[in-house]
Amino acid sequence: MKNIAVVGTGYVGLVTGTCFANLGNKITCLDIDEEKIARLRQGEIPIYEPGLTELVERNVKAGRLFFTTSYEEALADAEFVFICVGTPSGVDGEADLRYVRMAAETIAKTMDHPLIVVNKSTVPVGTGDWVADIIKRSQPDPIDFSVVSCPEFLKEGSAITDFMNPDRVVLGSLDPEAADKVAQLHLPLRAPIIVTDLRTAEMIKYASNAFLATRISFINEIAAICEKLGADVQEVAAGMGYDKRIGPHFLNAGLGYGGSCFPKDVKALEHMALVHGSHPSLLRAVMEINRDARRWAVLTLRELLGGLDQRRIGLLGLAFKPNTDDLRESPAMEIAHLLQNEGAHVCGYDPVAMPGAAQINPEMRLAEDPYELAQGVDALLLCTEWDEFKNLDMVRIKSVMAQPILVDGRNIYDPTQMQALGFTYRGVGRGNNNGR
Ligand code: UGA
Repeated sequence: MKNIAVVGTGYVGLVTGTCFANLGNKITCLDIDEEKIARLRQGEIPIYEPGLTELVERNVKAGRLFFTTSYEEALADAEFVFICVGTPSGVDGEADLRYVRMAAETIAKTMDHPLIVVNKSTVPVGTGDWVADIIKRSQPDPIDFSVVSCPEFLKEGSAITDFMNPDRVVLGSLDPEAADKVAQLHLPLRAPIIVTDLRTAEMIKYASNAFLATRISFINEIAAICEKLGADVQEVAAGMGYDKRIGPHFLNAGLGYGGSCFPKDVKALEHMALVHGSHPSLLRAVMEINRDARRWAVLTLRELLGGLDQRRIGLLGLAFKPNTDDLRESPAMEIAHLLQNEGAHVCGYDPVAMPGAAQINPEMRLAEDPYELAQGVDALLLCTEWDEFKNLDMVRIKSVMAQPILVDGRNIYDPTQMQALGFTYRGVGRGNNNGR
């Protein structure tokens, strides 16, 4: 059993802390947000993540998981401190490191024994060295410490499974002994552990996210060409995926990537490249194609409805992907704004993300369920592929719509079936099945 402090109870910190507690360690999760800590102490989990509430409860009961706002308390017996604070996008795409700086300074001022500082937040290459520098400069008296980078590869919605079954653990440090101690923490996960230097570890995270975003934009570009040439991108992706060198993952064409990671990380990598005199043309194309994926939905609806002014459009799904209530950079929310700008009346339904949506876009009407959403609309646009949308009673849906227009932004419906039911159906890159 190791003693670990985790700074930041956002998505990454809470999942990391809870999972390490579940592996038998004693974890103290710290946040400067008092209200959040008060809620966590009552067992209220501030984010939607399947399985997390139960896991927190179990580990709190077992006396392995604690919550505090006090650095003194969190660091008291800690051997490791994980920094898991947010790194939002700054004005020009640069990652904003103010929370990392605050955490590093406070750790430096509070620590009274040697510590291994593990950075899990996604930070620009070189930040590990910067954190070490801040700690050194902020310590009242010199105390030994090492910085290890351990980027996270958790997907929202399956974060616990991802933590417990990682494809790999990446560790970067200039101190092999510290890296080895962090590696020991991960041994129960039985995953390959890659030990490298700080900057390389930080770059592995950016390169991985940028590559996955590139696959998505690649298949979206192929989808646009399929649509023109009369091919079906779903089958093209399946056919490509059997090639072991390509693989089937992250080749779903649709409204593009969103969320708190890909958009921010691709932009930040572009920024790092530019600042250092590199020419990131592929990353730029990836971002441009992703913007086009949203525009595709607007153009398609405009074309099918003969204009958007005063048209009523229902959005099925608002979260940036299924199994999360996260609306950050969500294609649905962006498309809602674009449609509203052209005079359309937009309503939406999402199984979990509606409270947040109401705050972001008060003009958007929200429906109780998909059937109420369909009532009287001129078109439905599927934005998020929640499982519950896959088995809707489409006959009932069609019967209450003003016009039977279905735009499938995630290709979850069978075009032939939808056309047989009388829908005017459009999917992404399904050129041979668009009923033309
Ligand atoms: C992503 C990475 O997958 C994680 O490995 C990483 O740890 C995380 O970012 C992070 O940096 O913190 P996440 O943003 O939770 O995880 O979501 P993904 O499941 O990767 O999906 C990202 C976006 O791509 C979603 O909007 C999704 O709808 C879209 N997507 C995904 C596609 O459009 N097509 C696909 O084939 C796959």
